[in-house]
This record gives sequence, C-alpha cells and structure tokens, in this order.
Amino acid sequence: MHKVLFVCLGNICRSPTAEGVFRAQVAAAGLSEVIGIDSAGTAAWHIGKAPDQRAQAAATRRGYDLTALRGRQVAVADFGEFDYILAMDRSNLADLLAQCPAEQRHKVRLFLSFSSQWQDHEVPDPYYGGADGFDQVLDMVEDAAHGLLSDIRAEIKRRA
Ligand code: 4NP
Repeated sequence: MHKVLFVCLGNICRSPTAEGVFRAQVAAAGLSEVIGIDSAGTAAWHIGKAPDQRAQAAATRRGYDLTALRGRQVAVADFGEFDYILAMDRSNLADLLAQCPAEQRHKVRLFLSFSSQWQDHEVPDPYYGGADGFDQVLDMVEDAAHGLLSDIRAEIKRRA
C-alpha cells in the first residue's frame, strides 16, 4: 500500500479537493486497492464538516464528488501511517514540519512539487476569495495529481 495524505489549513477547501481529484485519477488507473488516500487540516475548526459548498460546486462541475468527505485534523500518528504527506502551501508545510518526528520529515513536502507547471508555487487558499479561486485550485491540483500518480506508479514498478 502507498499512502497519501493531503494537508491544508481547514480541510474543507484545498485538501478535500486534492483527495477527490486524486481518488478519481487513481480509480481510473485501476490502482484504488494499492494507493490509500486521505486528507486533513492543520487546524481543528472544521472537524466533522463536509467540504465548503463552493469547493463542492467547483468539483462537481469537473465531475468529482466530494460529498462523502469530512474534515479532520492532522494527528502525530499520521506521520508514521502515510508515505506522502503533501502540504498545499508553505504555512501548512511549516506547521507539519513543526509536529513531525525527525525520522519522518522526508515524507513531508509541497504538493505542487509534483506539478508540471507550478513546481515552486503554493495552492492559494481560496476561502476568502471568489469562485475563480476554486477553479484555480482544481487546475493546480489536477496537474500535480498526475505527477504524483506517475511517481507512485514508478515506485510500484521499482518494488515489483
Ligand atoms: P482550506 O481553506 O485550508 O483550503 O480548507 C480554508 C478553510 C477555512 C479557513 C481557512 C482556509 N478558515 O479560516 O476557517
């Protein structure tokens, strides 16, 4: 099993979007049995909540279903449990590294490091902006999810 955790601040906009998009790509690749996927927030504000309505609406327009997802907060056990712990922005990255045991730090990186177009960028927080922000999140996330899937496929081949 290759386990991926997407992390943002609230776990109601960016990281559930990444989870939904990556789940769809992984399912289309027939790899749902070997790639585990979850998302979490560094903050506790939205524990148990469904994704933001605007994130759900933008995802639905592109054929992704986020309705079953519920917010949760990152826990220290996640650093042992997951192989890829992917931060949406540098603030999430710093918060993760501040909690991460030293031997697990190599697992924590910016999600967009897997993208083809936005490698040094952050996924901008769309919470206080307009509807466009949610489409931009989807553009970035779809691109980086393809790169992540390629990386994991290569890892699966290496281990086979
Ligand atoms: P997310 O967006 O980190 O992409 O889920 C946010 C959601 C909620 C808040 C901030 C960012 N908030 O301040 O409640």
